[in-house]
Amino acid sequence: MAAFLAVSRTSVWKSIQALQSDGYVIEGSPRLGYRLLIIPDHLYPAEITGNLHTKRIAINREMIHHYHQVESTNTTLKNLADKDAPEGTIVVAEEQIGGRGRQGRFWLSPPGKGIWLSLLLRPPLPPQDTPVFTLLAAAAVAKSLKIILPELAVGIKWPNDLLINKRKVCGILTELKAEAEFLHYLVIGIGINVNFREKDFTPELRKIATSLYLENGRKNVSRQRLTSVLLNELDKSYTELLSDGPRSIIGQWKKDNITLGKKVVVKTVREAFEGKAVDLNEDGSLIVEGKNGIRKHFHAGEVTLVPMNGG
Ligand code: BTN
Repeated sequence: MAAFLAVSRTSVWKSIQALQSDGYVIEGSPRLGYRLLIIPDHLYPAEITGNLHTKRIAINREMIHHYHQVESTNTTLKNLADKDAPEGTIVVAEEQIGGRGRQGRFWLSPPGKGIWLSLLLRPPLPPQDTPVFTLLAAAAVAKSLKIILPELAVGIKWPNDLLINKRKVCGILTELKAEAEFLHYLVIGIGINVNFREKDFTPELRKIATSLYLENGRKNVSRQRLTSVLLNELDKSYTELLSDGPRSIIGQWKKDNITLGKKVVVKTVREAFEGKAVDLNEDGSLIVEGKNGIRKHFHAGEVTLVPMNGG
């Protein structure tokens, strides 16, 4: 190995030691060399890129920024975007200490337990066309979970919460920098609760949130594999959106949604509107029909699903 890499034996040994202390299990045997037995589930670029076949997202290692700890991957990526980082750049962290959810909420992001990832896009579209990107991300996460854990029933609650057994497993926070007519960039932040045990949630959160581990018969799920599959799916959908418009994204979202056809309450800053969610508009807005038959389009809001007849 030392000869192949043109370095000293000591430097090979030092690198092996560093990898071992990072969780890589490597067996060493005199005269035979080293054997890699276990790769830890860190989201290092080198462990993700091997399985990517993307055209726009993370097309080289330099476009994946990995951190052990950040405040928020969205904030880190916005700083990179302001310094002209290219479209398709991603930031991924093992831990967020100031993870942000929608409406200024805190997003619990303990080390190694989830996928805390942000993606930078610079689509040539006006700012008013951006809500569909959140739907795109939600549909891509749903598709990736189906690929990795086909037995789980994952549903999307409008616009972008992913639920399993009525509990939230993934949230998406899309932020943008724009002028009235011009979009500079979009940062799509995705948080997936992957290997949380019950004790990793606060008691309050555990009532409404879950993890893939808990729903998967208490078996760990590979964050590396899920991240690669997700980046491939995001790339496919984004390419499709640019070439064919939002129709197929809307179709995919509808296929995996658990909102349409249900009785809902939509809370906005102005009102709490109760009715039946009847359709999703091409621009991503939710169409809700009130008791009086009047239909309202919601572009933003918090949806609560109201059980119907004990359902
Ligand atoms: C929500 O449902 O409220 C949205 C949660 C979004 C969380 C993700 S984790 C990665 C990215 N960085 C953040 O600070 N937030 C998003």
